[in-house]
Amino acid sequence: MKKVLLVSSEAVPYMKTGGLADVVGSLPKYMNREEYDVRVIIPKYACMDASFLPQLRFVCHFYVNLNWRRQYVGIFESEYKGIHFYFVDNEFYFAGPSPYDKIYEDVEKFAYFSKAVLACLPYIDFAPDIIHCNDWQTGLVPVYLRTSFGDDNFYAGIKTVFSIHNMQFQGRWRIREVMDITGLPAHIFNASELESYGEANYLKGGVVYADAVTTVSPSYARDITTVEGGEGLSGLMSATRYKLYGILNGIDYEEYNPQTDPYIHANFTRKDALVGKKRNKAALQKELGLPVKEDAFMVGIVSRMTNQKGFDLIAYALDELLPSMDIQLVVLGTGESQYEKMFHHFQNKYPDKISAYIGYSEEQAHKIFASSDALLMPSMFEPCGLCQMMAMRYGTLPIVRETGGLKDTVEPYNEYENTGTGFSFMNFNAHEMMLIIRYAYNVYSEHKAEWNDMQMRAMDKNFSWNSSVHEYEKLYDKICEQ
Ligand code: ADP
Ligand code: GLC
Repeated sequence: MKKVLLVSSEAVPYMKTGGLADVVGSLPKYMNREEYDVRVIIPKYACMDASFLPQLRFVCHFYVNLNWRRQYVGIFESEYKGIHFYFVDNEFYFAGPSPYDKIYEDVEKFAYFSKAVLACLPYIDFAPDIIHCNDWQTGLVPVYLRTSFGDDNFYAGIKTVFSIHNMQFQGRWRIREVMDITGLPAHIFNASELESYGEANYLKGGVVYADAVTTVSPSYARDITTVEGGEGLSGLMSATRYKLYGILNGIDYEEYNPQTDPYIHANFTRKDALVGKKRNKAALQKELGLPVKEDAFMVGIVSRMTNQKGFDLIAYALDELLPSMDIQLVVLGTGESQYEKMFHHFQNKYPDKISAYIGYSEEQAHKIFASSDALLMPSMFEPCGLCQMMAMRYGTLPIVRETGGLKDTVEPYNEYENTGTGFSFMNFNAHEMMLIIRYAYNVYSEHKAEWNDMQMRAMDKNFSWNSSVHEYEKLYDKICEQ
């Protein structure tokens, strides 16, 4: 039996700000439990949903040294749907109102977390064969493992995987301060290890020190080796190709299941999807105060509001798009205030055509997936993207930009051969996006049978973890043999 520890700054159901949490919380459920004992460790945030707190059991406490600081580490544990979770407790670091804050605080917080994760292993009596780290917040785990813990026999055989969910965030800060915060030796802050553009870079540390590096779709694995997609690290990523793997994310088919989903107005299966979706659409229109019209083209958006997600194209397009079509845009998201304000503005201007819920709501997300005709994701870049897969599971057709995981999961409609599972456009250009939205609207309103066939094809796709999970298993086996 191989032991794997997944290290992350978030995981469902305890803490989620984006797809990372979905991935870390659901991947272990689908691993072969006879052969892999996969456990998860995350921080114990004070802002975690309070209903989980009574289930957390205290395991132990100890102190960890970070340079001249000596910090308390409490370890808690819990089981959720058969998965063993550990939590690192320290209120100095994790008591804020959100998991992430200012970068100079986060670099210290996650250096502490990374060291605490390694230090806790003998205390919790879990000696993993593999530590699987995720995103920059855990980038220092492989670094500490080979430096501060390098002489300790307990850690000698441990292999590491570092998964990149988003290259845009790298955890960069001034070298002098990072040396002070982390206590890492000065000699590793060089251009081949932790230094990048004159700063310390946690993501780079993870990439350089891990035994294998993965990212969350085959296309994004290529994108990050290019100047356009590499976020300044394309040279490093090209040089890392020998240990770089693109493994497509899956989604949790139990959580996102139109047949059993407790959040949606009417449950449905593939057989009664058309009726079921109509009911959900009418219920959502009513709930949001939109005109209850069966034929209106309901386009959903569920997204973090950042430039990554293509909101600049949307800002440019809505004044042209909304008045010219029988469309209803149903938006759910939170993030940068410029985009939140933009949606307030358009909602005031076109109250019958757009409803924007600025905030975070699991329930509302599920309702949008179930009720919409299409889901819009015009991302500038997209490592994988989960929403388009969730949408397809509910017979909602994605309209996406051809980038990263969107390209790998959405097959564009071909009207001559009646194939495809959605619509896509290539250039990051508002007019190209509008053209494809109009085209989708035309198929939706004029070629209903073809639209409905496409919904069935989308629902028939299998985006569960079942296939990708084997790729992780193979990778774990491979690096253990090295
Ligand atoms: P990213 O991780 O870049 O934000 P993904 O598409 O991979 O994008 O995953 C986003 C996840 O977060 C999905 O599970 C989506 O439903 C969820 N999500 C995003 N914004 C919200 C929101 N405002 N309310 C509820 N869920 C949201
Ligand atoms: C990141 C990416 C997203 C991906 C998610 C989970 O947040 O932006 O594309 O699906 O991580 O891997």
